[in-house]
Amino acid sequence: MERDEQYKLFQEKNKAAELGGGLERIQKQHESGKMTARERIDMLLDKGTFVEMDKLAVHKCTNFGMDKSHIPGDGVVSGYGKINGRQVFVYAYDFTVYGGTLSAVNSQKIVKVQELALKNGAPIIALNDSGGARIQEGVESLTGYASIFYQNTISSGVIPQISAILGPCAGGACYSPALTDFIFMVKENSHMFVTGPDVVKTVTHEEVNKEELGGAYTHSSKSGVAHFLSNTEEEVLMGIRELLTFLPQNNMDDAPNNPCNDDLNREEESLQTVVPVDPNIPYDMKDIIEPVLDDHYFFEVMPHFAKNAIVGFGRLGGRSVGIVANQPAFLAGVLDIDSSDKISRFIRFCDCFNIPIVTFEDVPGFLCGTNQEHNGIIRHGAKIVYAYAEATVPKLTVITRKAYGGAYIVMSSKQTGSDVNFAYPTAEVAVMGAEGAVNILYRKADEETKKKAIQEYKENFANPYRVAELGYIDEIIEPKQTRRKLIQALEMTRNKMKTLPPKKHGNIPL
Ligand code: HXC
Repeated sequence: MERDEQYKLFQEKNKAAELGGGLERIQKQHESGKMTARERIDMLLDKGTFVEMDKLAVHKCTNFGMDKSHIPGDGVVSGYGKINGRQVFVYAYDFTVYGGTLSAVNSQKIVKVQELALKNGAPIIALNDSGGARIQEGVESLTGYASIFYQNTISSGVIPQISAILGPCAGGACYSPALTDFIFMVKENSHMFVTGPDVVKTVTHEEVNKEELGGAYTHSSKSGVAHFLSNTEEEVLMGIRELLTFLPQNNMDDAPNNPCNDDLNREEESLQTVVPVDPNIPYDMKDIIEPVLDDHYFFEVMPHFAKNAIVGFGRLGGRSVGIVANQPAFLAGVLDIDSSDKISRFIRFCDCFNIPIVTFEDVPGFLCGTNQEHNGIIRHGAKIVYAYAEATVPKLTVITRKAYGGAYIVMSSKQTGSDVNFAYPTAEVAVMGAEGAVNILYRKADEETKKKAIQEYKENFANPYRVAELGYIDEIIEPKQTRRKLIQALEMTRNKMKTLPPKKHGNIPL
């Protein structure tokens, strides 16, 4: 073959791969409000940095006439590139090619980039839009999933893994995103379910549409499967870029330390009056979190799920921190099953990736009742103490108001390994609230005695001084000083050395 012909052939093959399922299917993809796999990767990565691998791979299936149909790339676009100048690995299912279904060959493509990401210590991002296992390939496709899940699992805690759901994600295919650290979903066009509405109807006689069953809103507010809900694909991709700015490349790296233009000693007068005098009046914990962080900026994770707890990222003096907080403005900030899960998983993520944890506490206790007990609040609540106790990253706690009972213990108390514990003068650290305590101690007493006892209890316990005397609080601070105090404590704990006893792994109550 002449040299010109060789180059021509090469160009033709490349062009065929880039066209995926062809112009008609690309148009259909656009008409349904979706970008193609390549458009998504281009938007996600820094301009011109994408290096594609296995662009010409084709399936080996001969069943159902598949031997007559080969599309180079075979339904997955994979490779590596940069985000904000940092190395990442990426793969995107191409719905225009056989519905983005998983063949044995494209599972090998995915596993190849997963292995590279692990070996080279860089985050990996999966852009999902797929009809699931390629039916024509039978069990070969299923085993492809198994290899992907295996890689997801052994990479967990070593490199950040992020999933975006930008189309269908059905059946076992859901378990790869579920094994990753963060899931982004987009309104209307993304769906995740183990079985679709038709199967649900057959098996349980329940009528439900796919949006309600497994749409973005369902998973970000009800099931807690998704961490971020975006309006558009662009918002998803920009969200991933931003999330990565808070994360290290891998578990051996320090959390990013960005230049900080915000005054480290900034005092925030507004904080002096955020906590109401009456302990029964709610307030928004974000009114404390935001002013304390660099540039008042808080990147919230799971904002729509278990709103009685708040988790997310921010920076203090340029350094990434994970924020965990109770939210008195929702269910009084009580801890229940969902908030326990939300908090524990986030703590464990931060600990995996060397991100210090700052806890803001105002919690009246654990939610009571048969619903919570029968569904295992004991098991779920225990996860919080487990996660805090095993976390070796710097841990700082600020008690803003209530710190009652078991909830006081689990929310990063001194004895569970917190490094620095602050309290506001408005803090109340006690076994329970005054009224509840007196009703137990003075059950049969008259109203006058009870009133006096409540007053006495409040004087003794509804303040931070008793715990400060005992050394369980290191310092009582004025709210306006919070930013400076936290930054000083972060500096102090910068070289924290803490290791756990050697073990294969712990056994967190799941
Ligand atoms: C092979 C498939 C396919 C599949 C879709 N296609 N799903 N081909 N295997 N699983 C093909 C279609 O035949 C079609 O090809 C093209 O992809 C686009 O599909 P459409 O149906 O035209 O698109 P749309 O109307 O948008 O519907 C998309 C869809 C639907 C919702 C994903 O196709 C669907 O419900 N597919 C089946 C989903 C499913 O049940 N998957 C689970 C498989 S089992 P042409 O040539 O006509 O364009 C599984 C288990 C994994 O995944 C377990 C792992 C542990």
